[in-house]
Amino acid sequence: MNNTIQIKDKQFQISIPAEKIQHEVQRLADEINRDMAGKEPVFLVILNGAFVFASDLIKKIHIPCRVSFVKLASYEGTGSTCNVKEIIGLSESLENQSVVVVEDIVDTGITMDCILRNLQSLHAKEVRVASFFHKPEALQKPIALDYVGMTIPNDFIVGYGLDYDGFGRNLADIYTLIK
Ligand code: IMP
Ligand code: MG
Repeated sequence: MNNTIQIKDKQFQISIPAEKIQHEVQRLADEINRDMAGKEPVFLVILNGAFVFASDLIKKIHIPCRVSFVKLASYEGTGSTCNVKEIIGLSESLENQSVVVVEDIVDTGITMDCILRNLQSLHAKEVRVASFFHKPEALQKPIALDYVGMTIPNDFIVGYGLDYDGFGRNLADIYTLIK
């Protein structure tokens, strides 16, 4: 196993092995299987970063469910605020459905806050949030997370779907930026 890697101008050091990640994914799946039994939830996977976590999680869900892939897109300007961002790619109605939002990481919480605001107009019966990583020290918006894989320090990481400038999403382990 490579302990350090170089992506573009930056060096990263391995910090969380794949086995640890898989263990926590199983724990989350167990919780969701238990909590959402009989609800036929819709998993709303936020692209791009959540695709790896979602793929692992979904294979461990044993209750009837659906999976939808969406993106948060800005439709005007740079889209740095929530009022210029919208959820795109949703092909089915969420009205009266139990929804589990699947994200790779909640950092400042601004993205998740925006997603949850967008979802309000779609009249789901219930919305829960599953984020594999959570950086509580970075949180700027009060977000209630229902399922958290791992709480991590406020460092920049790559791997398991997370990227640095587009690279590193394919790594099965997590690497932390060396300061
Ligand atoms: P937010 O700050 O909670 O709005 O997170 C916004 C987005 O930043 C996340 O969905 C990730 O795509 C990205 N992000 C946050 N922290 C990291 C990190 O440590 N590595 C890679 N991407 C990150
Ligand atoms: Mg993301």
